[in-house]
Amino acid sequence: MAGPPLAPDMRPRESWPGLAAGTPGKLFHGANRDMLAWVAAAQPASIDLVYMDPPFAVGQVFSYAPPGSAERRVPAYDDRWRGGRAAYVAEMAPLLPLVARALVPGGFLVVHCDWRTDALWRLLLDELLGESCFRNAIMWRRAPNLGRQAASRQLGRVLDTLLVYARTPDASFPGSPPTRFVQVPVDREGRPRGAQWDEMRGAWFVTAPRGDYTDASLERLASEGRVHRTRTGKVGIKYFLEPDGDGGWGRKQRLDTLWDDEGVRPLRHAPRSEVVGYETQKPEALLARILQWMVPPGGTVMDPFAGSGTTLAVAQRLGLRWLGADSSMVSLHVTIRRLRRQQAAFTVWTRAGITWPSGAGRLAWGDAGATLRDPDDFGPSGIAGWAVGWLDGDGCLELVEVAERSAVAAGLAACLPIPARAAGRRAGLFWTWVGDRFLVPES
Ligand SMILES: C[S@@+](CC[C@H](N)C(=O)[O-])C[C@H]1O[C@@H](n2cnc3c(N)ncnc32)[C@H](O)[C@@H]1O
Repeated sequence: MAGPPLAPDMRPRESWPGLAAGTPGKLFHGANRDMLAWVAAAQPASIDLVYMDPPFAVGQVFSYAPPGSAERRVPAYDDRWRGGRAAYVAEMAPLLPLVARALVPGGFLVVHCDWRTDALWRLLLDELLGESCFRNAIMWRRAPNLGRQAASRQLGRVLDTLLVYARTPDASFPGSPPTRFVQVPVDREGRPRGAQWDEMRGAWFVTAPRGDYTDASLERLASEGRVHRTRTGKVGIKYFLEPDGDGGWGRKQRLDTLWDDEGVRPLRHAPRSEVVGYETQKPEALLARILQWMVPPGGTVMDPFAGSGTTLAVAQRLGLRWLGADSSMVSLHVTIRRLRRQQAAFTVWTRAGITWPSGAGRLAWGDAGATLRDPDDFGPSGIAGWAVGWLDGDGCLELVEVAERSAVAAGLAACLPIPARAAGRRAGLFWTWVGDRFLVPES
């Protein structure tokens, strides 16, 4: 592994005091390699889990629209890779040595991807972390096999892959292994069908054959009161049932690597209050399962591709420390709003030399149309789109009008008038773009 990386000069820009107890989170706006290099140099071996949900190389621009307001759709980030796989690998591979430096020796890395890049990630991770650190390739059902997927020329591509690697081969998961709840049928009296009553424990149980349990394991289970012997001497393993809270019964079952159970349903089944409108948002239940399994109590989680802030929101709720990064201005706004609703305390950081559009002076605040400079000022790939918005009661930007790049002539100064609806409010213009640079360099 190369020598210690130089820490980029990162600056705290804006703090939200919040009400929740605990160490304030750190939200980095900009290229994730800055956050990773900073942590790797300034606080090496400090992160218990890095969860990465990078662009999947889908070949499209993903957007954000506030729930129920599709007309306010705004581009959030670009997942097109003009240089193909080579460009994708060139962007992702340099992150991994920094991730390795940031992780504690017993820490874990999860890379969330799908059929487009899972093979690339396996090779990169085997190469950079070591094959002996591979733990699992979990298949998570992202969507039901319906519609276009079901009718396509191959089997539905509805599963995502979560590659789990340990930082060191001997690391063990700090939390209990994840389980799913399996319902059992009940009879007319509401008793679990086929179950027997355990007097000692005062609980219903069902049995299963001993399978490949060794005699030693059987002895241990017997000492825990989990072995059932029939009158004919047959041995079975007891599985105790629990009420499901809805008049039914079921039992917890250890998970294998296929995650398609009720506990981690696709985002479309999440409560409405959870859905923020960021196209590639992941369900909180999925992140909660991962974090509870892989992070010790009070431990630290890092998400270098924060998106709508799902990992950070869940870490906050679970009382964990967190750091996140995203280069998209839209992601930043969505995440800030989400964390503020949770009353989280956190600070937004950027690299030095970047103008931070703080609440006091977001880019081009005003009452009338504001003019953007030549898109060439904004990085090699230019502007993807821009939007007009105003501050809502939370102090977060509410988007009211958006325009895609195609709506203005590239290479010309662009103007998007602030609509009459914004009259009397503090409205402003901001933009989102693709490419390496993301904010206006300080003059
Ligand atoms: C698949 S989304 C993450 C979604 C997220 N897990 C959620 O639940 O909302 C990928 C994110 O990575 C961000 N991104 C892509 N390249 C980046 C980079 N080099 N540095 C920082 N963020 C990046 C994009 O802006 C996008 O928000």
